Amino acid sequence: MCGIVGYIGNKKATPVLINGLLSLEYRGYDSAGVAVLNPSNDNYILNIIKDKGRVKNLEANPELENLIGNVGIAHTRWATHGMPSKGNAHPHLDNSGKFAVVHNGIIENYLELKNKLQDNGYKLYSETDTEVIPNLIHMNYNGDILEAVSKTMKELKGSYAIEVISPLFPDKIVIAKKDSPLVVGIGKDENFIASDIPAVLAHTNNFYFMDEEEIAVVEKDKIKFYNLDLQEVHKDIKNIEWDAESSEKNGFEDYMLKEIYEQPQAIRETIGSRLSVDKQVELGLDEIDFSKFNKIYIVACGTAMHAGIAAKYALERFCKISTEVDMASEFRYRNPLVDEHTLCIFISQSGETADTIAALKLAKSAGATTISVVNVIGSSITRLSDYTIYTHAGPEIAVASTKAYTCQVTLLNILAINIAESLGYSSNELNQFKVDLLELPDKVKIALESAQEVKSFADKTCTQQDLYFIGRGLDYAVSMEGSLKLKEISYIHSEAYAAGELKHGPIALIENGVTVIGVATNPVTTEKTLSNLEEAITRGANVLVVTNQDIRNDKIGMLLHIPETHPYLSPIISVVPLQLFAYYIAKAKKLDVDKPRNLAKSVTVE
Ligand code: G6P
Repeated sequence: MCGIVGYIGNKKATPVLINGLLSLEYRGYDSAGVAVLNPSNDNYILNIIKDKGRVKNLEANPELENLIGNVGIAHTRWATHGMPSKGNAHPHLDNSGKFAVVHNGIIENYLELKNKLQDNGYKLYSETDTEVIPNLIHMNYNGDILEAVSKTMKELKGSYAIEVISPLFPDKIVIAKKDSPLVVGIGKDENFIASDIPAVLAHTNNFYFMDEEEIAVVEKDKIKFYNLDLQEVHKDIKNIEWDAESSEKNGFEDYMLKEIYEQPQAIRETIGSRLSVDKQVELGLDEIDFSKFNKIYIVACGTAMHAGIAAKYALERFCKISTEVDMASEFRYRNPLVDEHTLCIFISQSGETADTIAALKLAKSAGATTISVVNVIGSSITRLSDYTIYTHAGPEIAVASTKAYTCQVTLLNILAINIAESLGYSSNELNQFKVDLLELPDKVKIALESAQEVKSFADKTCTQQDLYFIGRGLDYAVSMEGSLKLKEISYIHSEAYAAGELKHGPIALIENGVTVIGVATNPVTTEKTLSNLEEAITRGANVLVVTNQDIRNDKIGMLLHIPETHPYLSPIISVVPLQLFAYYIAKAKKLDVDKPRNLAKSVTVE
């Protein structure tokens, strides 16, 4: 988490840095700061302005006007070590005041390093792990900043993306990375640094991606990369097609709403030319011999993990390979049975989630073949996986994931067809499944038409303390995602239950006025789910049902009809009213939908 921006060129650095931070706030938003090298006579002075709170507080600080230099670094923080405060905000300085550093990640051995620094007479003023870095750089500095940074990196344990500036080398920003993303955006007589591409997309589409344990020296017209032993490393430029406009709100009140409405197009792009009715699926995975696998693990976190649960059904049925879904944070500590006959599929919007990365490394070291389903091009997971297939959802800015989920489920189902076809399976059902997949964008568009009805139900429900989502099979899978969305942005406690489990405990919680949301899209299980909903209604529950079936029951408070599809694809449509429900409840409660408290979009700590 935390966002990093850097600028070196001929323009004033501060506006570029502040705009970059504003577009990075989804990474953390409890404090923010900038450091700029201001020219003064023949020298440079390091100026730092930072404060608790959001970037707009920083932006409103009149002293920013005085930062006129052309070289600067900036940071928006998601607190790990030390509460959100001005003192803990980045940039941090060393004791001499010569080195300013911003840092993403966690220095795991910071206490040990702090002791070492204190033994050498250094004083540390903040509660952060970061403050050891500028001081170590100072301690290791003998006139060569590259050497000082590489020495410092060898002492650090944990994860970091750092930027360093100093009046001692006023025409350079020195950056380094391990287990935390960092890119360099290439301009003409100017260069940009960012933890995430959208921060500098307004300026360039050409990027270098930093690799593990790399250092770079960025000047306005030169960028050089080095490994830890200071040997120069050659890198290729990557062109990123996303445009800056797609990272803006385009008239929508919030990014989340914009991203919900972008889903038909995002799904269409994700399907692209990979799928057509009369041809085999094309995902660029031809060299994999799928017949060697006897087990599939899908591993991910949060919403991405829910996408995995929704995809398990198609993988098992069409490919006839037993498939298990794991939370990445659990997978790596439970000694999973993984070997060369295992296919591990990792799902991640950001491609930077620390738990998922750790699980991926474990799977690789155990001999598994790894395929990742990722949205952010060039992100860490794509570089670690044997194979990557991209969702083409475009930049997702709101912390609560919406379009990434529907694109992930879409792509995973296409992957299921790909594997089934490679194994020689074909059936009328599989052919029809392709047709259903191709119709998804239009059907999701129809589901979006439920917005006003959903809003009216949300307006009546927003004062509730607890809410329950129930469904069976894939309707349960989507209930989990609906419940997570609600928790994330409305702060209302909610639970998702397999409808049949309600009577085994949770029904004790149902009393007059409690809201239960039922999802019933599978003709095989709809009647059973309706019976479970009746049990809740009998105990006073207020019920909303999302369905594509012909349900007639006047005890149901609201019925929301969505288009029919293959049951395995129904989460891609039925999730839409649930996303809208969470959104409108949070709006009714006047909450910040895009930046919910305590969360961050990209969780780069374990
Ligand atoms: C965080 C975000 C969630 C997201 C999860 C996994 O918790 O707040 O919205 O689903 O990380 O992120 P990923 O980028 O790996 O999909």
